[in-house]
Amino acid sequence: MIVTIDGPAGAGKSTVARAIAAKLGYIYLDTGALYRAIAWKALATGTDPTVPAAMKRLSRNIRLQIVHTPDGAMEVEVDGRRLTGEIRTPEVTRAAAQVAALPDIREELRPIQQAFGRRSDLAGVVAEGRDLGTKIFPEAQAKFFFQADAAERARRRHAELPVSDKALGLEETRRALDARDDRDQTREIAPLAAAKDAVVIDTTQLSVDDVVERMLRVIEHKAADRR
Ligand code: C5P
Repeated sequence: MIVTIDGPAGAGKSTVARAIAAKLGYIYLDTGALYRAIAWKALATGTDPTVPAAMKRLSRNIRLQIVHTPDGAMEVEVDGRRLTGEIRTPEVTRAAAQVAALPDIREELRPIQQAFGRRSDLAGVVAEGRDLGTKIFPEAQAKFFFQADAAERARRRHAELPVSDKALGLEETRRALDARDDRDQTREIAPLAAAKDAVVIDTTQLSVDDVVERMLRVIEHKAADRR
């Protein structure tokens, strides 16, 4: 069973994806962490994240490992180094959306993501990102697209910022979020979009439990259809 959740930043995808994965015993796939890992390496090596040739070289030479922790989180290792908070800074966040617009980078990351869908040792996958229902797992049995008011998404993102970045005000967080969503929605390749068969959920007024409950109903239905 493959469950996909796409949507803009701050719509609540990660929290809900992890909750669903824990409830169903599925593996959680945070695809944004892969783009962030590549962006982190670009910044760490002084590579311009907008230059296609340089980024192609970098992505060909990167050793990217996905690690699932016992508490159900997903972390990435770049060239043997485990990255956690480093890939969540505002600088890496901005660079991630820049590298995500490059076709070669998306091509490099595609098989890594799709491999999870073919693993027979997994009961299921809950994957969150921007193009999962449309491009990476078009065959997914249960697809969701989250949306939420921009002000609420900025508030959630600001609350999640590491203490070291809290000085970044709510207004600035909102500007950065708007710029990133705009880039994600308007890029030529795999733009942020709802799949035609996705269930759209506006999470602005909903609690995590509300969203999880709605999704579980849909997933149960889809699973019953397959039996
Ligand atoms: O989801 P997260 O905020 O960690 O994603 C960081 C960036 O990675 C996004 O702004 C987007 O540009 C890119 N991304 C993507 N496709 C995905 C997941 C993330 O383009 N499936």
